[in-house]
Parts: sequence; C-alpha cells; structure tokens
Amino acid sequence: MGSLKKEEEQDLKVSNEALLYVNGVRRVLPDGLAHLSLLEYLRDIGLTGTKLGCGEGGCGACTVMVSHYDRKLMKCSHYAVNACLAPLYSVEGMHLITVEGLGSCKRGLHPVQESLARTHGSQCGFCTPGFVMSMYALLRSSQTPPSEEQIEECLAGNLCRCTGYRPILDAFRVFAKTSNDLYTGVSSLNLEEGNGVGGLMWYRPLTLQHLLDLKAKYADAKLLVGNSEVGIEMRLKRMSYWVLISVMHVPELNVLDAKDDGIEIGAAVRLSDLLNFFRKVATERAVHETSSCKAFIEQLKWFAGTQIRNVASVGGNICTASPISDLNPLWMAARAKFRIIDTKGNIRTVLAENFFLPGYRKVDLASGEILLSIFLPWNRTYEFVKEFKQSHRRDDDIAIVNAGIRVHLQEHSEKWVVADASIFYGGVAPYSLAAAKTKEFLIGKIWDQDLLQNALKVLQKDILLKEDAPGGMVEFRRSLTLSFFFKFFLWVSHQMGGIKERIPLSHLSAVHSDRRPQITGSQDYEIMKRGTSVGSPEVHLSARLQVTGEAEYVNDTPMPPNSLHAALVLSTKPHARIIRIDDSEAISSTGFVRLFLAKDVPGDNKIGPAVADEELFAVDYVTCVGQVIGIVVADTHENAKIAARKVNVEYEELPAILSIQDAINAGRFHPNTEKCLSKGDVNHCFQSGQCDQIIEGEVQMGGQEHFYLEPQSSLIWTVDGGNEVHMISSTQGPQKHQKYISHVLGLPMSKVVCKTKRIGGGFGGKETRSAFIAAAASVPSYLLNRPVKITLDRDVDMMITGQRHSFLGKYKVGFTNEGKVLALDLEIYNNGGNSLDLSLAVLERAIFHSDNVYEIPNMRVMGRVCFTNFPSHTAFRGFGTPQGMLITENWIQRIAVELKMNPEMIREINFQGEGSVLHYGQKVQNSTLAPLWNELKLSCDFAEAREEVDQFNGHNRWRKRGIAMVPTKFGISFTLKHVNQAGALVQVYTDGTVLVTHGGVEMGQGLHTKVAQIAASAFNIPLSSVFISDTSTDKVPNASPTAASASSDLYGAAVLDACEQIMARMKPIASQRDFTSFAELVGACYEERIDLSAHGFYITPDIGFDWTTGKGKLFRYFTYGAAFAEVEIDTLTGDFHTRVANIVLDLGYSLNPAIDVGQIEGAFMQGLGWVALEELKWGDGGHKWISPGCLYTCGPGAYKIPSINDVPLKLNVSLLKGHPNVKAIHSSKAVGEPPFFLASAVLFAIKDAIIAARAEMGCNDWFPLDTPATPERIRMACLDELSSSLVNSDFHPKLSV
Ligand SMILES: Cc1cc2nc3c(=O)[nH]c(=O)nc-3n(C[C@H](O)[C@H](O)[C@H](O)COP(=O)(O)OP(=O)(O)OC[C@H]3O[C@@H](n4cnc5c(N)ncnc54)[C@H](O)[C@@H]3O)c2cc1C
Ligand code: FES
Ligand code: FES
Repeated sequence: MGSLKKEEEQDLKVSNEALLYVNGVRRVLPDGLAHLSLLEYLRDIGLTGTKLGCGEGGCGACTVMVSHYDRKLMKCSHYAVNACLAPLYSVEGMHLITVEGLGSCKRGLHPVQESLARTHGSQCGFCTPGFVMSMYALLRSSQTPPSEEQIEECLAGNLCRCTGYRPILDAFRVFAKTSNDLYTGVSSLNLEEGNGVGGLMWYRPLTLQHLLDLKAKYADAKLLVGNSEVGIEMRLKRMSYWVLISVMHVPELNVLDAKDDGIEIGAAVRLSDLLNFFRKVATERAVHETSSCKAFIEQLKWFAGTQIRNVASVGGNICTASPISDLNPLWMAARAKFRIIDTKGNIRTVLAENFFLPGYRKVDLASGEILLSIFLPWNRTYEFVKEFKQSHRRDDDIAIVNAGIRVHLQEHSEKWVVADASIFYGGVAPYSLAAAKTKEFLIGKIWDQDLLQNALKVLQKDILLKEDAPGGMVEFRRSLTLSFFFKFFLWVSHQMGGIKERIPLSHLSAVHSDRRPQITGSQDYEIMKRGTSVGSPEVHLSARLQVTGEAEYVNDTPMPPNSLHAALVLSTKPHARIIRIDDSEAISSTGFVRLFLAKDVPGDNKIGPAVADEELFAVDYVTCVGQVIGIVVADTHENAKIAARKVNVEYEELPAILSIQDAINAGRFHPNTEKCLSKGDVNHCFQSGQCDQIIEGEVQMGGQEHFYLEPQSSLIWTVDGGNEVHMISSTQGPQKHQKYISHVLGLPMSKVVCKTKRIGGGFGGKETRSAFIAAAASVPSYLLNRPVKITLDRDVDMMITGQRHSFLGKYKVGFTNEGKVLALDLEIYNNGGNSLDLSLAVLERAIFHSDNVYEIPNMRVMGRVCFTNFPSHTAFRGFGTPQGMLITENWIQRIAVELKMNPEMIREINFQGEGSVLHYGQKVQNSTLAPLWNELKLSCDFAEAREEVDQFNGHNRWRKRGIAMVPTKFGISFTLKHVNQAGALVQVYTDGTVLVTHGGVEMGQGLHTKVAQIAASAFNIPLSSVFISDTSTDKVPNASPTAASASSDLYGAAVLDACEQIMARMKPIASQRDFTSFAELVGACYEERIDLSAHGFYITPDIGFDWTTGKGKLFRYFTYGAAFAEVEIDTLTGDFHTRVANIVLDLGYSLNPAIDVGQIEGAFMQGLGWVALEELKWGDGGHKWISPGCLYTCGPGAYKIPSINDVPLKLNVSLLKGHPNVKAIHSSKAVGEPPFFLASAVLFAIKDAIIAARAEMGCNDWFPLDTPATPERIRMACLDELSSSLVNSDFHPKLSV
C-alpha cells in the first residue's frame, strides 16, 4: 500500500525529506507509509513501550505526546494523542515523546514514572505507559501546575482493568502542587516551515489554495484532521480510501475568532482548542450572549477522552454527520451557520439545521466542496441553549441519546411567550433529528406548566422509534427525549427565576449540574512483618519496568528471522454445516503463505480442558460465530488478516440456541452436567406450615468480558528441525499450552516448552481460552518449521474467547415474619456456550456459594450447564461464586421488601455462625464475619447514613440516594482436589542472590512479589537479592493454572519448602562460625559441595469432597469481607455515581498489604463494572438488530468498563486486624477473587434508591432489577409520569442471558 510518487503539479511544493523527531532523535520518514499508524511505526522501530490495547482510540494504552510549533500562538504546543489512530504522516514535522523518552531503569525514572511506581499504580503494567504519557503531556502543556480536576479529566481516556484507578490518581495528585522543576524531559524543537509530503496517498497542504487544488484533482479524497473517524472506518470498518489530505495546517481552517455578532470557528479547529476558547469567551462576554458556548463547554467535557479531543476537529465531527454526534444537535439548536467552499473558491453559507439531510450520514456537501468554517451567533437576552447527553458510562462514551434545545422567550402582557425554539435529538434516527411538531407547538405559547404538559404529549408523538430500531433500547431512548425536554423546561424556568410558576424546590434536582468532587479515600491496614520482607508493603517487583515501558509482553518480543504472522478464519454463523471452504481469493492476497485446516492437524483435532468436546478447527459444522475454521499465515499481521478474510466459507444454516431460556426450552444441556446438593428437608419445610411466607422468583444476570488490556498473544517456534516446539504465551496456564500443543501436534509433552514472563491481565480469560489460540498457531509453525506469532485484535478477542457466564436463577424461599429463612429451593443455569470448557466447575462453585453467608436449615440447589450457540464461556474472577451469591442477595433483598424491613436486618439475623454446617457438609470454622460486619457498620455509621439518605430523598424529587451493606464469604481451594498442588525451583547462586521459579504466572496480581518476599524472609536476605524470571514448563512441571486466588498460598508454600530444604542443607555450615553475609555463607556451602538448588512442593492439606454423597471439606478456609455503598441516581436519565464505598476484608496477616489493597480496589471496580456498567449485547431474540450469534459490544467503543470517573467519590479500604489465619502461609489469606462480589453493595444501593423513586408514585411492591444495572435499567425502573406514558410498571429491558 502507498508506494511513493512525487507530486506532479508544479505549483504544489514538495520536500525531499519528511522528518519526524522521536524522543529527540531525527528520523526520516520513508515514502509509501501512508497506511501505517503512528503506533505501528513506533513499534516497528523498536519502541514497544507504547502498547496496542484496542486500536480504536478507546483505551489509551497507546498514548504518546506530540509537540509542534504553533505559529498562531508562537509557542510549542504539547498534547497527548492515541498513536493507534494517528496516521504516521499526520505527525510529520513534529516531535514525539514516547514513554521511552522519559526515563528508564538504567538512566533513572522521570518523576511521573517514579511516583506511579511508588504508589502501587501499576499491576499488570500494560496500561501503565499510557497513563504516564497522559500525565506527562498534561504537565508539559500546562504553564502552571494542573488542578486535581484537570488531572482526573486528562486520565479519562485511559483505561485500567487492574488497579481500580485510585493509586494512579494518588500518584499523579502530587503534581497538582509541584513546580515547573518537574517539567523536565526532552524539549521539543522549533520546526521549520513544513512542506507537503509527496506520497501517493498523503497530502498535507499548507494553504487553502493548495487544498482546493488537491480537492479539484482528487474529488474523492478523504480530508483528515484527527483521523478519529476515518481511522475507525479504515481499520475496523475496513473501508478503503486512496487519497488522504490532512487539512490541519491550513490557516483558514484554523480560525478561532470572536466577532461582534458571534464566533467564527475554522473547520479544522481541534475540540480541545475549541473548549478552551469557549471557556475564555464565556468569562469575557455578557452572560446572556454565551448560553450556547456554555452548552458546548458542558457537552465537550463528556466528549471522548482527552487524547481524542486533542486531535479531533469540529469539521470532522460535523462532516461525519454521525446520528449520535454530540455537537451537531447543538450547532443546529444554536442557529449556527456553516460556510462551505468549493474548489473554485466560491463560498456559500447554509444553516446547520439544513446541512444534515435525512438519511444515514448525509450532508449538503457536494463532492468538490469542503467545510470552511462555522459561525456561532451570540445569544439574545432570554435565549437559552442547553445540551443533554446520556451514555452508558459518563466519561469517554458515545451517547445513547443526546440533544440540543433552545428557546427564546419574550415578555407579552407580563407573560413569557416562546418567540422561537428548536429541539434536536441525536440517537433517535439515522441523523440528528428535529422535533419539528414540538417546535411548532411551542412557538407563541406561554412558558408555563400547561406548555410543559402539552409539549410532552406532542413530543411523545414527534419522536418515534421502531421496535427493532438499530441500537435497541427503544423505550429508554424515547423516555430520554421526554426527560431531556422536562429538564430543559425546569432549567429555563429556574434561569428565569421561577417565571411566576411555582417550581417546587425538590424538582430542581432535575437540573442538578454534574460537578464531581475530587476522589478521596483511605487504606487502613496493620503491618505484621515476618523476617526481612514478608508483611511489608513492598512495591510490585516489575513496577519500575512497567512505568518506563521496559517491561516486555509477548507482542513486544522481537520476531525471529523467517517469522510469519497468523490470523484465524472464523465462522460467521452461529450454527451451520460447512459446505465448502474456498481459499482461491486468499491465495492471491499479498504476503499469503498458506491456509491450514482440520485436515492438516498432525495430532488430534479434538481439545478441551475438562472434556475434549471442541474442535481445534471446525470439521463439518460450526456451532458459534467466531469458531475457528482455519488459520492463515502471511508475512505481516495485516496481510494475514486480509488473507483470512478472503477465505470464503459456504454454509447451510441451522437453527441456533441463543439464550439460556432457549436451551431450557429445547432441553439442550452439556452432557453430564446436572448437579444437585441438599441439606435438611426442603419439601417438608414448605409443606409443614413453618414458613409464614413463601415467595418464588427469578434472577437473571448478564455476562462480563474480561477486558484484560493485553490481547491474547503467542509466539511459537520449532527447534532442532521441528523436533521440539517452544513458545512464549500470554497465559495463566503455560502447562495447558504445553499440553494442548503436544496433543494437536502429536508430540510428547517433554518436547514442548511454554514460557510466560508476565501477562497484561488475565482475570480467568487466559486460563484455558488462550490455549486453543496457541494450539491453532502451533500447526503452521510446526508444519512449516517457521516461527509464527498470533496476536488477536481486540474485537476478535472479545468475540471468540468467551466471557463470564450469564446465569438464570429460579428460587423458592420460605421464611418467618421475623425474616428468618427456613427453606430454599433453587435452580440455577449458566450459559456454557458451544463447548464445556470450565462451565461445570463454574456452575459447581455457584452451587457451593449460593448460601453466601446465611444459615439456611433446609436447602436444595440444582444446577445445569446450558448448551448455546455462542463461544464457550469460561473462568472469570470469582468463577461462578459472584453469580451464586448474587442470586442469594436478590432473594434476601426481596424478603426485606415483602416484610418492609431493612435488607441489612434480614442479612444479620440469618448469618451463619461458628460451627454452622454448610449444604455441602463443611463446618464453618474461624469465621470472622461478625467482627467484620460490626467494624463496617461502625465505619459507615449505617443508621445515620440511612437517616441522611431518607432526608435527601425527601427533598429531591428527581435524584435519589440509596445505601446497602453486603457481606461475602469466599471458599479458598480449587474445588477439584488434585489441582491443589504446587511446585517450585529455588536456586541459590554463589554471590548470594536467589533465582526462584514456580508454577504460578505473574499477571499483575503481585504473585511474584509476594513469593519473592517469602523467599527473602526464608533466607533472611533483602528482597532485592531474590529474582523471579519467567514461568516455564521445563523448570516446574505440571503446574495448575494461576487461578482460584490460591496461588500465593500454593506457590508461596512450595517456595518456602524449597528454601527450607536449602537452609537445612546449609545449617551445618552456618553453625560452624559467624558469616558476615549470606553470600559468604553460600560461598562456604559451595566449597563444601552442598546442593544449593531445591525443588519445593506443596499440597493443600485436609480437603476433599465427594459428589456422590454431596459432602466433604471443599475449602481449606474462607475469606470473609463486607462492603457498604452509597449511590445517587438521576431518576430521569438513569445516570448514577457511587458516593461512598467502604470495604472491610479479612486477609489474616497480609503478606503484602499494599498489594492486597490493590487487589481489593481492582476487584471492587471490576465488580462495579459487572453489576452496573458492562453489558454484553449478543444477536439473540431480544436484540434482533444484531446479526444472530454476533457480539455487538466487541470493543471499548461499545463495551464500557469502569473509567477513572467511576471510582467512588470516597473509597475506604480496611483490612481486619488481629485475626491471623492458621490455615495458610505466614497466617495470610487469599485475596484475588473474594472482594469482587462486594461491589454488589453498589447494585443494592442503586436498588434502594430506585425503591425511593418508585415510592413517590405510590409503588412499594418488589420489582426485579437485572444486572448490569445500566442507566437504561435504572431509568426504566424509576416509575414516574414520563416513563409511565411509555411502559408498564413491570417493564423489563432486554438482556442477553
Ligand atoms: C474513542 C472515540 C471516542 C469518540 N467519542 C465521541 C463522542 O463522545 N462524541 C462524538 O460526537 N463523537 C465521538 N467520536 C467520533 C469522532 O471523534 C468525532 O466525530 C471527531 O470530531 C471527528 O473529527 P476528526 O478530526 O478526527 O475527523 P477525521 O476522522 O479526520 O475526519 C472525519 C470526516 O470528516 C471529513 N472532514 C474533515 N474535515 C472536513 C472539512 N473541512 N470539510 C469536509 N469534510 C471534512 C473527513 O473527510 C472525514 O470523512 C469518538 C471517536 C473515537 C475514536
Ligand atoms: S490502543 Fe490506542 S486507544 Fe487503545
Ligand atoms: S495495571 Fe492497568 S490494566 Fe493492568
């Protein structure tokens, strides 16, 4: 793509050399690279600190800083951009700073890096360079130290899945107070006048005339400024353009001028510049003139993240004409005019409201025309403009519905009459839509309550959406159009001082502005130090490598010579017979080497971790969209993907099962997965009349995507002519990779080696679902004898690698009028997808934990794994436990509603106590539930919080607060007994340093740090003397996957065993005399020929469970915890935020309290995503607008994990003190999964707030609230006059389950 050709026009100046400075180094950009993104270029030249997390501008992992000389401002301008979307040539003539340009472990760290490392701000580290660069760019661009608010704002475009953000904020907060001394680093260069680059496809005109000439020559050329739209079109939507013209340097397109009658804004003005300009004029002009400007300021604050706003342009947004553009409804409402120029220089002006034509992305712009500028008039007195936007996530998210509404009032006979109005909505039609009839209705009417009521009726008929409208959420979207107008009415009336209409004070809550206070919090723990290191809050051992970008992940490893790249050929049908696979088109694709199919597999094509029910490559049938049919290898990653797409597969479609309910109806369950446990006599209890009340109900919850920041990746190569196979993989189970690959290649396991240094997050998603990808890539590597790398694109990764299981629970529960639970009959179903994978074990855990912490004398739980035509669902932090416990907490909460009692009261009176016998026969021992619960209750002052919330709710009609306290108990051990074993290899060297290798994988959770601490304490040496390299199947065999929270217990004990063996061997020497150092002792032992290497081994003692009796001791111990949450919701839009979260967890004597707090906060935020934000939308019966079986939410654009602004405003974490755990190493407890469920306190607090909202309508009955409780579910559950005109009180938004 993009071969070089000099510009032929004489009058188009060209330069022979296109330059770019990277970290101070001058680089000449070769011609012909117009197709390359800046990220690809950087990584190609070895700067791999900048990561590829999503490739669509949604995660910030690729953030770099761009500096260039701004001729208008006559100074250097520095800003953060997403390198994945920036075309390489767009930064020609500029200076780039990447994370490598700041500091390194050898050269020393930059203060931003130092601070982040020290405050435990990196776990897996994959997001870390992006955060560093966002913060660095903010510091470089600020003349004065930034405010805390600016810091939070600048990080909104960076996602982290591990830390929960709090430590990152803490790390960067210090810069809010420091001086310019910190602003060190490489200064940017004063660039010479740049000339257009003469590439075939890339032009960068410097004058309007040059641009018009180019446009005349290439009528179909794509103009570019930020490329945030075109980049997505080319990369994700696979659209091809051949001529790209970057217009960012054309002066006429960069005008920003406040004139007498309004503001002129050049089409290429970047959104961040526009925002700053509006902020400036809003302070300089008369208040009434800038109503539109203020609306834009508010809207721009929620427009994408900083990196996108720094590059995206006004004109790019307008000309894209997206139906959900945040700005277009405002331009239209604000009476803006667009100036359009043609190639001859003729200029015409068109009103914004006439520019957008009916139809998808249609505008009044002829092919030879471009948008020159926008004119925004000042507002008149009593003219009000307001913006509205509701999205899934407040920050960095596209709108579900947005609006721009304007009204101009004039006084007539002491009444305020509507002289003019405009109402435009985004997200309700293929284009920004005018509510024309409502406008017509308003004009001439008196601005009073009658107008409101009648206008709402007109509006309801004005904005209609078909039931199967793309995007779904039809009722919610319609309700938002009413809510926005309602809010607008109240806002204007408030601005006008009430307008003689009495607006009750409590109704002003509808026009509350979303000013977020700064996030605060505390971390409270005691340090119980044992030896030199155990118990100390040591920094993650990789932190310094991570903040400098030096930490290597699989995709950063240089490719060996002769390497190939692989891409998968995937099914596009949920269930079909394969008729024909045709690779004729692929063969002629550039760089194509070969396609491999099932027939090529040298060993066994059948795989699976529990039962071999998966095909590596589909043979005759496909059973989900995204199933692997074959694998293509080619010379580059891009070419492999292109060729894979060219493999044509012909199908005969078959009926598909696309939900749990479909599976139940059809009786489609995975074989041998029916499980049942019971205790007491449930039937007898229900029939005996002991229960005062018996209720029945259903709970359903959606799945969750792991969204590890590092996509799945493996590099595989052969050794000794193909006799051995080696690989490095991003996996939680290197041994699984070894096993799968030996199986599919027909090689003994002893000839296959898998190594894993670190992974960029796993959360269960790389426990088994990484292995089939590596196994697929091993086939071409083995057969061609060449190294093969496979790295999944984010959308493919999300589509094919499975998620947390969605669940359906059907309960029948009997209880007394005092709230004591007597009997529970429960059926649970999980959505296993098209192969069993770990679904049975996940279901079993849900069964085991479906009592949470409650004493249920009579209990029966039956579970089944449903077969569906979706990719196989898999392990995810908690492994079924959260789903099981969420069902429990749902019926507990329902009992409270039925009995009109506080749910917390019901919880307390049903707590299990010491000695309680659980439904699988295990006795509760050493329970710390009571002290935990009491500590939490005290810390949040529950009774007072209840009173304050009730008071707030009484005073606020449209905003409600809610609170909840939720406990948890998490069983520690793999439920499959034999997996509870661990091996380690400890090697002591003669300089006194120690190399530890164990079977666990470092995925950010700090396992290596804790294990190294154990080794350091064992040898009584400093932590710095211990090193853990990679996990490798040839050092420690048969390791279990790193999962189930148990790895510190298991590997810590195995390492301790090895250390103790060595210490025992050294003891005779050590007792001979005093040694001045460990190194000296080791030297003496060496001379005495003492073996200084040992293999350690550990098995979890005293566990075992028998399914035939349903009894046994499943878990070694339980980790207990409890959380309190307070939330506030906007009942008109469903928007919510968490005001407070207090968490108390019992971790015994923590091995490393800083790392444990990081795990708690990260798990809590991930849990918050599960309960309130992250919705997977599949093509199923409820989502007919999505192709059957396809995942719609397959990237950060549509799937929203929590961002920095979802962190609770007050987040307090406390570790229970004074309770050592006798059952695990150094009296500690496992931490990874237990805190995840505590985020359900947020869900139940939301429900509490909704209850208050419904009570205003006299509706006090129980209602279901599915998870995730997204704005759609919150709003639709909040009954009021507006929503009841659209739906019934039992309306249930659709959910893929
Ligand atoms: C992660 C992410 C988040 C986003 N969030 C939001 C959001 O919250 N709200 C929202 O509204 N949008 C959002 N967008 C969409 C996008 O960022 C905006 O539409 C942006 O303003 C486009 O500007 P650009 O300069 O990057 O456009 P480009 O991609 O450079 O160009 C876009 C289109 O405009 C045309 N064009 C550009 N200038 C002119 C001109 N002068 N005359 C004629 N045609 C022209 C180009 O030919 C092209 O077709 C988001 C995008 C991403 C990737
Ligand atoms: S990789 Fe660029 S934003 Fe995600
Ligand atoms: S540390 Fe942020 S994604 Fe892992």
